[in-house]
Amino acid sequence: MQNKPVFILAIESSCDDTAAAVLKNDIVLSNVVANQLIHNQFGGVVPELASRAHQQNIVPVIDAALKKANIKIEQLSAIAFTQGPGLMGSLLVGSSFAKSLALALKIPLIAVNHMQAHVLAHFIAEENFQKPTFPFLALTISGGHTEIVVVKDFFDMEIIGQTTDDAVGEAFDKSAKILGLSYPGGPLIDQYAQLGNPKAFAFTKPKVPDLDFSFSGLKTAILYFIQRKQSENPNFIDENLNDICASIQNTIIEILMEKLKLAVLKTGILQIAIGGGVSANSGIRKTLKEAEKKYGWTTFIPKFEYTTDNAAMIGIVGYQKYLAQKFETSNVVSNPRIKF
Ligand code: KG4
Ligand code: ZN
Repeated sequence: MQNKPVFILAIESSCDDTAAAVLKNDIVLSNVVANQLIHNQFGGVVPELASRAHQQNIVPVIDAALKKANIKIEQLSAIAFTQGPGLMGSLLVGSSFAKSLALALKIPLIAVNHMQAHVLAHFIAEENFQKPTFPFLALTISGGHTEIVVVKDFFDMEIIGQTTDDAVGEAFDKSAKILGLSYPGGPLIDQYAQLGNPKAFAFTKPKVPDLDFSFSGLKTAILYFIQRKQSENPNFIDENLNDICASIQNTIIEILMEKLKLAVLKTGILQIAIGGGVSANSGIRKTLKEAEKKYGWTTFIPKFEYTTDNAAMIGIVGYQKYLAQKFETSNVVSNPRIKF
């Protein structure tokens, strides 16, 4: 029994969001994110600009997280940070800060795998949110990942399906780019799709064996479709934007659902949790909720603020690792390609 509360300061800096959170056990006291708008004009994340922006943001973001949590730095029990996967320059800003602070405060340092954190975000204590029980299936869908994972325990996860090329977030963002939408296009496609007909246009779905995914063919199919339609009508995108977005989103959801159904069939596991930035998508959230009645699944959909990159999810893994005494020394290295 843990009588004294555990206070974790968590730092996330794997890509283009600088984030810090303070947790008291599994309760989030503060969750602060500074988005880097500088990348929008380049149509994607520029690694060198990302690490520079992290350097500018990290102190104010951590300061804001501590203030919002009403916690003094001396009360902290441990510092958790994202070890990887991500961009090396970005990861280094977070890890260097975490190491220095842990050393100065003489408290444990905890390294967290970003993708495990997207999965384990479901264990944050929130009113009206159920936590999954082990084992469950996790569908991790982000700008860099598309995986189906069997989660057997907090730190025992097995990938049973993954993308062979683009991640689902890339499919959203690259499709949006073809339509002339700004980066990141995923949320914009979601927004327009809500006003469109998902059956207006049909795109061929990839044929990939077993539980793996492929999204690069879909992007090409959309590109050729748009080019063909625009040669007939130069205003095709403007006149049909809602329907195009709804149809793209619907195709992506159908691809994800087909694989999830197969994963349930193969494993016999009926609990499905989603995580990662793309799980913010309203169509995916709705389809999964409907699957509860339709297929008898129990689905776990994270609170909106825990879907895209955030530090609260790093904090909940930090808390579990604190209980398991999984600590690191300052020699721990950032790993852009770390596996589950
Ligand atoms: O997890 P995340 O914040 O960062 C990575 O670790 O990649 O995910 C970012 C991805 C981007 O591709 C973004 O377009 C997508 O999540 N995304 C969405 C939505 N919100 C964010 N895609 C579709 N619909 C959304 N509402
Ligand atoms: Zn992420």
